[in-house]
Amino acid sequence: MSRLPIIVAPMFLISNPAMVIEASRAGAIGSFPLLNARPVSTCADWLQEIKEALPTEPWAVNFICHPVANVRFEEDLQLIEEYEPPIVITSLGNPKRVIDIVHRYGGKVYADVANVKHAEKSAATGVDGLILVCAGAGGHGGQLNPFGFVAAVKKFFNGTIVLSGSISSGADVLAAQMIGADFAYLGTRFIACHEGDAPEAYKNMVIESTTDDVLYTDAFSGVPVNVLIPSLIKEGIDPSTLMPKEAIDLTHLVNVKAWRDIWSAGHGVTAIEKRESVREIITSLQEEYESAKQRLNVVQSL
Ligand SMILES: Cc1cc2nc3c(=O)[nH]c(=O)nc-3n(C[C@H](O)[C@H](O)[C@H](O)COP(=O)(O)O)c2cc1C
Repeated sequence: MSRLPIIVAPMFLISNPAMVIEASRAGAIGSFPLLNARPVSTCADWLQEIKEALPTEPWAVNFICHPVANVRFEEDLQLIEEYEPPIVITSLGNPKRVIDIVHRYGGKVYADVANVKHAEKSAATGVDGLILVCAGAGGHGGQLNPFGFVAAVKKFFNGTIVLSGSISSGADVLAAQMIGADFAYLGTRFIACHEGDAPEAYKNMVIESTTDDVLYTDAFSGVPVNVLIPSLIKEGIDPSTLMPKEAIDLTHLVNVKAWRDIWSAGHGVTAIEKRESVREIITSLQEEYESAKQRLNVVQSL
């Protein structure tokens, strides 16, 4: 079976070395946010473990470029320089300094963006790829439709295109390729995996939830995020009383308390029906991808 063009997306408080290693060994590209490993010495241990386990396979880390939002900015840059992750995924802020370091050792930098203006700005910095975060993505989802977003970015960007937002099945991966993406970026599909650090109740909630249980709100950090309504209710929060937050506040990246209790998932949550290992999920995605290709052949022969 062919290697699927998928990145198991970095997820705050969920991704860990076991997920990264299993994903990359199973033929996908595993990733984790550097800030999941605290303190910095633990992060160095994680990087060492992954580097040793994946001598030839691709893997990625997620680095927050915003020097204010990321109090570990300088330390994490040093870790990137020392451990040379093959791919660095940047979020928020200007990726220029990361690009200088990563290109020196031959790695790639992919910047995640949620609108065309930010895609243009990131493209101008010389990134190798753009991750287009569309409507319905878990975490800080975007608002754009993937058809429109990919077409708009392809007008000015020739690099790697990674598509993100509710991609949950192998057929979705094929669809992403058909509209011009090089890779699909899947977060929610992996929240309930055995290896991940999501609490048991969160994994169960993801299995029980449907798309209607997802609420897009900027009430928590000022940046809109897709959250599971049952996780709000569990905390005694009535979703109808949520007010938009006036100013953007990204301190949750450092102070994790809020995200330990309020749980995120994307519109693709309906597709998660059971607890599985990372390898089992990737095998299902591969099988679904192959049957989607067969269906396409049938349609073409009509
Ligand atoms: C629980 C959760 C945590 C996330 N944390 C991060 C993060 O720390 N950094 C990041 O760049 N993206 C983060 N994301 C976004 C994912 O990397 C990815 O863009 C998204 O999950 C893709 O959409 P999907 O969930 O619909 O597959 C998170 C997503 C989820 C569901």
